[in-house]
Amino acid sequence: MRIYMTEDYQSMSRRTANIISAQVITKPDSVLGLATGSTPTGAYQQLAEWYRKGDLSFAEIRTLNLYEYYGLSPRHEQSCRCAMQRNLFDHIDIRPENTYVPDGLARDPRAECAAYDATIRALGGIDLQLLGIGVNGHIGLNEPGDDFGLESHLVQLSESTLQRNSRFFECREDMPRQALTMGIKSIMHTHRILIAASGAEKADILCRAFCGPVSREVPASILQLHPEVTLVGDRAALSGLREAGLPICG
Ligand code: GLP
Repeated sequence: MRIYMTEDYQSMSRRTANIISAQVITKPDSVLGLATGSTPTGAYQQLAEWYRKGDLSFAEIRTLNLYEYYGLSPRHEQSCRCAMQRNLFDHIDIRPENTYVPDGLARDPRAECAAYDATIRALGGIDLQLLGIGVNGHIGLNEPGDDFGLESHLVQLSESTLQRNSRFFECREDMPRQALTMGIKSIMHTHRILIAASGAEKADILCRAFCGPVSREVPASILQLHPEVTLVGDRAALSGLREAGLPICG
């Protein structure tokens, strides 16, 4: 695993965008796995800016998002589809038909997940998967205790995720309690993983994920077994890993 430390959120975002843009430039028809949450929004802004300046094109890029809340329409402003449009897709030259997000309104969640896995395979797998990390160690929406052997599936959100993410909904009752997420198996099959983290609140979970045992209680710990992981974090997020003595690049 390579770990890059940056000074703050802004430089973490720029470094994350740099790695994504290198992928896009060297393989213009890459399949990118994308994430939502607050962490990647700065990187998306940076990518959109480089597109505006003419430095980057997404015309041949295909994207697959990690998850969608189950029960949310793609038009709901808190849906992952809407967030991706707002934060990235509406500002770059990606073709709408090349952007995949699970359908939160699918009648049959099992069939929707099977179709999503089939799409990942039909596209030839994911070249670069961007991840955030939950304070409870979730990646995608694979919550503590979830089975590591699953591809895309319907998950029950943990109490900690419900509490943390309900701030985005008008009231907590409006927040879906389930999601359709790519599974740990799907994530582990991606060719390269780029995990981004910012802020002191991520320091402890990053330590548990990368210095502790691989355990279902900390889903991100499975990334220790992936051969191509890059972690980009700011000084605050990486403070624990630094103390633990992990080799960190500037
Ligand atoms: C959220 C999202 C994840 C995200 C993580 C961290 O619950 N479901 O996709 O990676 O938790 O979120 P944030 O980036 O806002 O800290």
